[in-house]
Amino acid sequence: MTPPSLLVLYGSQTGTAQDTAERIGRQAKRRWLKVRVEALDNYNVANLISESLVVFVCATTGQGDPPDNMKKFWRFLFRKSLPAGSLCRLDCAVLGLGDSSYPKFNFIAKKLQKRLEQLGASTLLPLGLADDQHDLGPDGVIDPWLRAFWDRVLALYPPPAGLDPLSDDELLPPRFVFHFLDDVTENLTIQSEVMDPEQLRSSSQTHPFMARVVSNQRVTHASHFQDVRLIEFDISRSNIEYSAGDVVMIQPNNCSENVEEVCQMMRLDPRQQFILRPAEGETVPARLPQPCTLAYLLESFLDISCVPRRSFFELLYCFATNELEKEKLMEFCSAEGQEELYAYCNRPRRTAVEVLADFPHTTADLTVDYLLDLFPEIQPRSFSIASSLLAHPNRIHILLAVVQYKTKLQKPRKGLCSTWLASLDPTQGAVHAPLWVKKGTLKFPSAHDSAVIMVGPGTGVAPFRSALYERIAQGKTGNVLFFGCRSSSMDFYCQREWEEMERARQLNLFTAFSRDQEDKIYVQHRVKEQAVLLWDLITNSNGHFYIAGNAKDMPAAVSDALKEAFQSEGGMSASQAEDMFNAMDRTGRFQSETWA
Ligand code: 2AM
Repeated sequence: MTPPSLLVLYGSQTGTAQDTAERIGRQAKRRWLKVRVEALDNYNVANLISESLVVFVCATTGQGDPPDNMKKFWRFLFRKSLPAGSLCRLDCAVLGLGDSSYPKFNFIAKKLQKRLEQLGASTLLPLGLADDQHDLGPDGVIDPWLRAFWDRVLALYPPPAGLDPLSDDELLPPRFVFHFLDDVTENLTIQSEVMDPEQLRSSSQTHPFMARVVSNQRVTHASHFQDVRLIEFDISRSNIEYSAGDVVMIQPNNCSENVEEVCQMMRLDPRQQFILRPAEGETVPARLPQPCTLAYLLESFLDISCVPRRSFFELLYCFATNELEKEKLMEFCSAEGQEELYAYCNRPRRTAVEVLADFPHTTADLTVDYLLDLFPEIQPRSFSIASSLLAHPNRIHILLAVVQYKTKLQKPRKGLCSTWLASLDPTQGAVHAPLWVKKGTLKFPSAHDSAVIMVGPGTGVAPFRSALYERIAQGKTGNVLFFGCRSSSMDFYCQREWEEMERARQLNLFTAFSRDQEDKIYVQHRVKEQAVLLWDLITNSNGHFYIAGNAKDMPAAVSDALKEAFQSEGGMSASQAEDMFNAMDRTGRFQSETWA
């Protein structure tokens, strides 16, 4: 039987699902299968009825939501009008990527598998549920799942006689071939920098708006361990609109030292211009201008400081000739070497640039055509908007915690986006950040007489700052905020703003300073203390309750404090309080936005 063409469809938010899908694509080529790899929303879903073999690789994001690049597909798939047997010719497999520290673990993959079966598709093997919390990271589940997947696929569609699968050290052709332009024009103006008025007004992932940074101010005390910034962007002359609860997506750049280091190690001239020639079935990413410079590619497009995944090592292995390096890379690519690889790379959060520096001979032999196979794309990061257009016309504010931490490696680890944003200094000349706005998950009541109770420790307060400015501008009262931080003198940001709102009787503020006294005081303790007020607002003022912030134990503790208030003030039993809480959750009167 001629093997069918394998289709790998992915829904990816942070790039891991895309990377895994591309890895499946490479493995398929090594097994002589024709293969296409596509983001779900780039695929014409009506064609699904004529496919015979599809593997879905889908992440679950936020509060159990599908990633942005599968939202259209998701709406289509759940149309009631789809007949039950419409996918009866399809053999499929579903691999989910999730994080079990979030409540709706792999919700999308689970729901997808059920729906595919309902539509008549046959599933080749049990659902794969990769987990960021696994000891070996997501690969701890993905690797064995893929082995089982290939066993099934090759049993059903054995390769043509005499053709054994290619081994892992045989180099596949690159996805793109670089065609270098001869006349290197110094200071080439690349497309995304051209001030095209149309482009200026638009704002989406493919055409972000270049927003000027108006101010970038540290809001924690200089001696506090955490650097938190209030950053203000100018969005005038854009078509961007937003309301409280929305998020801004920001596309960061790599730091220039890393770019220079890659150029040096691979002997690349960053000024060189090129056009990409895609291999069959590949398309040049829309965000990449053509022609492009190597400098732009390495600074703004490829994530050279990511923690590299296994596929990175597999590709290096194909280039290795130095014995020592080849041996080490072979170990990292083998099933037995996974703990070792994890200990070398993932646990200490070693970056791709650092790994390349550890394999200098192999790196020097890498050819430029493989750059897009080697590094993933830089992914945009999302931030809750902290401002309101009603109070801050033509502006977007964010509250940014600059990510920095230590591992066993000497150099501190730095978050790509937060470090880059923190480095943008408008006092040293004009600086811009590419951004666009997305609808958020938090929705605030439009009715004038609905109260809001908002619990936002740390930078979790960002969406509530937006909501407060918006509601106050609209003349809405019944605004309650619980803010928590370590100390009233170190990280009580926006203090003066809250105090002004309090003086004007627009806000009722409760603070929890966890380290200003011996015993910890957290926002949940303050919520408990205010049981009478909360019960009154919820029952008499259609009160809506919100939580935002770090997803460790805080959201559960605050929810418990709220349920206790239902019991103490509403005279409810524990199960009645639970029912009331669930009813508020269902009707949008309880909402949370939490992150890891
Ligand atoms: P801590 O660091 O002193 O433990 C913002 O980060 C605030 O949230 C800090 O004051 C922090 O206190 C606090 N915090 C940490 N863990 C928490 C939890 N489980 N519940 C509520 N607040 C918490």
